[in-house]
Amino acid sequence: MGGTFLFDGQPVPFEDGQTILQAARAAGRYIPHLCWHPDFPPHGSCKLCIVKVGGRHVSSCALPARDGMEVESNTPEINGERRALLQMLFVEGNHFCPSCEKSGNCQLQALAYELDMSSARFAHFFPDRPVDASHPDVLLDFNRCIFCELCVRASRDVDGKGVFALTDRGIHKHLVVNAESGRLADTDFAVTDRAADICPVGVILRKRVGFAVPIGERKYDRASISTVAMEKGE
Ligand code: FES
Repeated sequence: MGGTFLFDGQPVPFEDGQTILQAARAAGRYIPHLCWHPDFPPHGSCKLCIVKVGGRHVSSCALPARDGMEVESNTPEINGERRALLQMLFVEGNHFCPSCEKSGNCQLQALAYELDMSSARFAHFFPDRPVDASHPDVLLDFNRCIFCELCVRASRDVDGKGVFALTDRGIHKHLVVNAESGRLADTDFAVTDRAADICPVGVILRKRVGFAVPIGERKYDRASISTVAMEKGE
């Protein structure tokens, strides 16, 4: 049956079962997101996709579109809240973009540019999260984890391995490897796994290919994440 809703004042059609984010994307309208991925069910954790519907803030990746609803997305208020969420993500982890080999290909960094985030604003937590270089082909830098659980979901639901998990709560929440030793080398993780290429930031990195793409030619060097996401269907 489907219907139509207003997205920032413009009519957007939707089909039954589509979320606001899915319908908006199908209509060429970008909504910032981090934990949502077109190949996986909505997760609803990062809240970057918030929009305003009927005066309430909702996660557009999870809320089904309804006929006649009025959705506000690209407004100073909503973008300001998205910026604050980004700032919290930056201070919760250890994100040093200039020295990170995911720089230029990182969704967190690209969204910070997209939303004009010029400083972290809050005090940094500087959590202590050792890296895991035990695997022959992949390095894990837990410092950059944003808890989107895409690697958890990909490893469990696509690869059928369940290599990753999140543990603890609040500032102590962190990504772990499901092995008695806690080391990636002691799992059956492979560089060909879906989970190896799913991280939107710089946690899961292939060895021996760091900084292979020069500055200026990286994913988000030439176009903003909103443009890239719509072109590539991400
Ligand atoms: Fe919707 Fe993360 S993209 S909550």
